[in-house]
Parts: sequence; C-alpha cells; structure tokens
Amino acid sequence: MLRKTLLSGLAALGLVAAAAAPSMAAEGGHIHDYSFSFEGPFGTYDQAQLQRGLQVYTEVCSACHGLKFVAFRTLADPGGPAIAEDQMRAYAAQWDVFDPELDDLRPGTPPDHFPPSQNAAAPDLSLMAKARAGFHGPLGLGINQMLRGIGGPEYIVGILTGFTGEEMEQAGTVLYENSAFGGYMGMNPVLMGDDVTYADGTPATIEQEAQDVAAFLMWSAEPKMMARKTAGMTAVLFLVVLTVLLYLTNKKLWLPYKGKKKHS
Ligand code: HEC
Repeated sequence: MLRKTLLSGLAALGLVAAAAAPSMAAEGGHIHDYSFSFEGPFGTYDQAQLQRGLQVYTEVCSACHGLKFVAFRTLADPGGPAIAEDQMRAYAAQWDVFDPELDDLRPGTPPDHFPPSQNAAAPDLSLMAKARAGFHGPLGLGINQMLRGIGGPEYIVGILTGFTGEEMEQAGTVLYENSAFGGYMGMNPVLMGDDVTYADGTPATIEQEAQDVAAFLMWSAEPKMMARKTAGMTAVLFLVVLTVLLYLTNKKLWLPYKGKKKHS
C-alpha cells in the first residue's frame, strides 16, 4: 500500500515537473548570484553603496525611468542612503516636479516624490527590485528562491550587464539583445563604465555601477527592510525567552503531582 502511494506520488510529481517545463523557456538567461550586504537575516543596507546607487539613478536612469513612489524626504531616513537633511533638501530642489495646484512645474521639496518615467516605454523603477525574479527553478518549483532569495537586485544587475551587442530593428524601433531579459529589449546599453564619478573614489566600472543602482532600487522597493528584520529578530528572541519561562512554569506547576512515587 505504502509503496503504491509513494509510486503514484512520484508519478504526480513527474507530471507537475513536465507541466512546469515549458515555462522554463521564458525564464531568460542565467543570473549571477551577487552577495549583497542586505541579504540574510542580519543583512543591512550599505549606506555608501545606496548613496552611489542614488547617484547612478540620478545621472543615468532618471533620463528615462521614474521613481514615482519614492518621496525625497525618505533619502534622509536612517537605514537608507541617509544623506544629511540639508543635502536632501538641496537634492529635492534640483528636480522639477509637477504641481497640480499651480498646473505647472516647480522645484521639488522634501514631501514631493521623484518624477514618473520620462520615456513612456520605460517602466517605473520604484518597485522593480521586487517585481522581477532573478532565480527560478529547478523546474519552475522556485526552490532556488528559497535558498538564494527572489533575485530582484541580481536581475537588475543582469539586465545592465547582460547586453550581448546584437541589435535588430522592429517596426521602426531598435531593439537590443540582452541575456538577462532573455531576448531583445527596448533599452539600449546605458552603462559604459565611468558614467558617473563617485565622490568616495570607488572605480565606476559597469559592474560596480550596476550593483550600486540595484542595491539602491532594492532600498526603494523595501525601505523598511532593516526595521522589519530587527522586529523579526526581537520577536524570535522574545519567543525563545517565553518558551523557557513557560517550560519552567509548567515544571513547577506539576511538581507536586509528577515524578513522585508514593509508597503506601
Ligand atoms: C535611454 C532610456 C533609458 C535609460 C537611460 C535607462 N533605461 Fe531602463 N529601460 C528603458 C526602456 C525603454 C525599457 C523597456 C524595455 C522593454 O521592455 O523592452 C527599460 C527597461 C528597464 C528594466 C526592466 C526590464 C524588464 O524586466 O522589464 C530595468 C530593470 C531597467 N530598465 C533598469 C534601468 C536602470 C537601472 C537604468 C540606469 C542605470 C536604466 N534602466 C536606464 C529605457 C532606459
């Protein structure tokens, strides 16, 4: 009986695997697993990296992409890029934001959000690091994601470093082959290396810029990650202490009744 159940179970798994297999083709290319500072239960954002990523976003990506869910004031929050308050105000003021009351553009202030995408074809990047997955499988089961995370930031690095150099024209637009995208995409290779000059002297290689902006976009998609992890660890610690206390209480309550052999 047990053997039969096991066998039919295995057969069912085989079917599931076979059904999942066709979707593999759409999964795109291989995504390299970078080790970001914010991974793991104790991982935290690297403040200097987020600041470099903000610079890459500002000087390169924002020409086309928007970040409409991110308010300028959050750039000064602890746990994020955490730039000084006055720097944040000055930064916000560099941007022209649309004010519906004035029906016109005006310089940004801390409560304003980054402008939306300038190029209609370019998606907003605020949540991109959580909207895309770099890791799949095996067989579409997502086991890789349990071990290595969803891989959103890795996917973004993959996109920025994955241009193969092949181009083609379709209906009047040029498309560029990208191994992470898994085909031809509408974005051209935007990073050439040395696209920005980092204030901290970090060499601005394509890979470095891509990792920095991916880390920044992870923060924009999950600005409270560090608070969430701290709350999680506090909860686990609390539960451990509570378990020990309950165990001892239980022992004490049952002490008069258990473990005593009455000889009469
Ligand atoms: C010249 C305009 C332009 C610039 C600059 C640009 N992008 Fe894009 N990007 C696009 C367009 C257009 C698309 C949509 C491509 C498509 O779906 O075929 C896109 C798509 C993307 C995607 C989504 C891919 C997907 O899975 O749908 C990501 C991620 C991305 N860009 C990241 C960036 C980052 C990070 C930067 C800055 C380093 C950047 N882009 C700079 C035009 C641009």
